[in-house]
Amino acid sequence: MTHHMELNLSVSIFLSLSLCYFLHSAFARGGLQSHDSIFPPEFFGNTTYNGHARRLFEKNQSNKSVDVAEGYMTNSELEAAIKAFGKRCSNISRIYSIGKSVNGVPLWVIEISDKPGEEEAEPAFKYIGNVHGDEPVGRELLMLLANWICDNYLKDQLATLIVERTHLHILPSMNPDGYSLRQRGNANNVDLNRNFPDQFFSMNEDASAREPETRAIMEWSSQIHFTASASLHGGALVANYPWDGSQDKRQIYYACPDDETFRFLASVYSRFHHNMSLSNEFPGGITNGAFWYPIYGGMQDWNYIHGDCFELTLEISDNKWPPAHELATLWKYNKMSMLNLVVSLVQTGVHGRIFSSDSGRPLPGTITIEGVNHTVKTNRVFADYHRLLTPGGRYKVMATVPGYKSKTTNIWLEKSAMTVDFVLDPEVTPNGNLLRSACECNCGRLNRYEFESFFRGAHFEVYAILILVLGFLCFLFQRRIKYNLSKQRQLGPKRPVAL
Ligand SMILES: *[C@@H]1O[C@H](CO)[C@@H](O)[C@H](O)[C@H]1NC(C)=O
Ligand SMILES: *[C@@H]1O[C@H](CO)[C@@H](O)[C@H](O)[C@H]1NC(C)=O
Ligand SMILES: *[C@@H]1O[C@H](CO)[C@@H](O)[C@H](O)[C@H]1NC(C)=O
Ligand SMILES: [Zn+2]
Repeated sequence: MTHHMELNLSVSIFLSLSLCYFLHSAFARGGLQSHDSIFPPEFFGNTTYNGHARRLFEKNQSNKSVDVAEGYMTNSELEAAIKAFGKRCSNISRIYSIGKSVNGVPLWVIEISDKPGEEEAEPAFKYIGNVHGDEPVGRELLMLLANWICDNYLKDQLATLIVERTHLHILPSMNPDGYSLRQRGNANNVDLNRNFPDQFFSMNEDASAREPETRAIMEWSSQIHFTASASLHGGALVANYPWDGSQDKRQIYYACPDDETFRFLASVYSRFHHNMSLSNEFPGGITNGAFWYPIYGGMQDWNYIHGDCFELTLEISDNKWPPAHELATLWKYNKMSMLNLVVSLVQTGVHGRIFSSDSGRPLPGTITIEGVNHTVKTNRVFADYHRLLTPGGRYKVMATVPGYKSKTTNIWLEKSAMTVDFVLDPEVTPNGNLLRSACECNCGRLNRYEFESFFRGAHFEVYAILILVLGFLCFLFQRRIKYNLSKQRQLGPKRPVAL
C-alpha cells in the first residue's frame, strides 16, 4: 500500500469516524436509545431480602365444579384466538407450535416482532402461561397482552419498543391437558415445574422419560436464545427468582451468581404491579425461590443454567382460579409489569456485538462480568449479546472467543442500557495490517483496544496528523460525554469510550 493510499484511507477513516460520532450522539439523545430511563429514581433503592418465609401449600386444589372455567377460553377457543391474532396482526407476528401435549394439543406460540421469525441483533423474551393446569389466569392475560401490543404498536412507546427492539415469544398454555382436566399436572399428572433436569439432584435426566411438554420447552430453548423469560402462576402474589432449590434441601436464601440482577428484574415486575410490592409477606413483593420453599426440577433454574436465560416465576394472583369477571382487573394490575419486564431487556444492561479484527465478521462468543460466575452467550448469527445487570453499578465486562485474545472493559452502567462492542484479535495475528477491519468496526463505540489494532502495522509519520485530530476529537467527545452525564447524574463517568 502506498503512502498516498494510506493518506486517503486515514482521511476517510477520520471523516467516517466524525460522521459516526455525530450520528451516534444524535441517536442516543433523540432515538430509542434514550438515556431517559423508564424507571423512576426511587426505583433503584434497596431491594431487601425476605424477612419471612412461607410454604406454598398445594392444598388450594382447584374447585372441581364445572363452573370454574366459565368465561375462560377452552383449549380450542384459545387455539382459535391465537390463530385469529396471527391473522389480525400478521405484520408484526408469527404463529408456530413447539410440540404437542400428552393428549396431542399443539403448544402454540405467538412471536411478536417487526421481523418475526427473522434473526436480528435483538434480545428475545418468552412468556409462558398455564404451566400448572389449574392456574389459568396467565393464559388469559397473555392473550390480552399480545392483543394490547398489536393495538398499540406505533401509538404507545412500550408497545413500539417491544415490537421494534425485541422478539417476544408468548406461549399462553404450556399445559393445555391439565387445564381441561382442571388439575395441576399434565395428562400424566406430572407437575411440569418439577420435570426439568436439576442442578443438585439427579432427576428427570432420562430424556426419553421426560414429559412432552417439558421436552418441547427444552428444544425450544435450544433453538431460540432467550435473554430472559417469565412463567405465570397463581396462588400467591410475588415475583420469584433463582435459585428455586438449595443444595441441601434446606429452606434458606440460596443466591445464584446473578442474585442482584434477579432481584432487580423481579422488582421491575413487582413495582410496576398494582400492589405486588406492598406485600406484607414478601418485602418488595419479591422472593428467592429456595427461601420461600425449595423445589427441584423446576423450569426457572434450568433456564438460567442451561437455557442461558434469566427466568422469573411470577405468582400473579392469590386466587389460582378466580371467577372470569376478575380477569379484566387482573390484566389492569399486571399490564404495566408485563410490558416493562420485556422492555427492561433493552432499557437496562449492557449490549453489543463481538467482531473479529481480521475480517470484521461477527464472532459468536461469551460475555463474562468479573465477580459473577455466570457467562452469557452471544447470539450465533450477529454475535450480539444482551447482558442484563443491575443499573447504577461499575462492571468489568470481558468478551471471550476461542482462538481470539479476550478483551475486558470497565463500564459504569447508568440507569439505562449501554452499548459496548468488542473487536477481538486472533491469537496468532496474521502479518497483514488490520486497517480494513478497523474501518468495518462500529464507529462511535470504539474503545481503547480497537484503537490499538487500528494503528498496528501503520506508519506513524503518516498518521501523526490523524492522531492530533483524533486527540482533539477525543477532547471534544469527552467534554460532551461529561456534559451529557452531568445532566442526568451527579455521580461519576462514563461510557466505555476510552481513547
Ligand atoms: C440500602 O441498605 C443499606 C444497608 O442495608 C442502607 O445503609 C442504605 O441506607 C439503604 N439505601 C436506601 C436507598 O434505602
Ligand atoms: C392487592 O389488591 C387486591 C385487590 O384490591 C387485594 O385483594 C389484595 O389483598 C392486595 N394485596 C396486597 C398485597 O396489598
Ligand atoms: C462457578 O460455577 C460452576 C458451576 O457453574 C462451579 O463448578 C464453579 O466451582 C464455580 N466457580 C467459583 C469460583 O465459584
Ligand atoms: Zn404454579
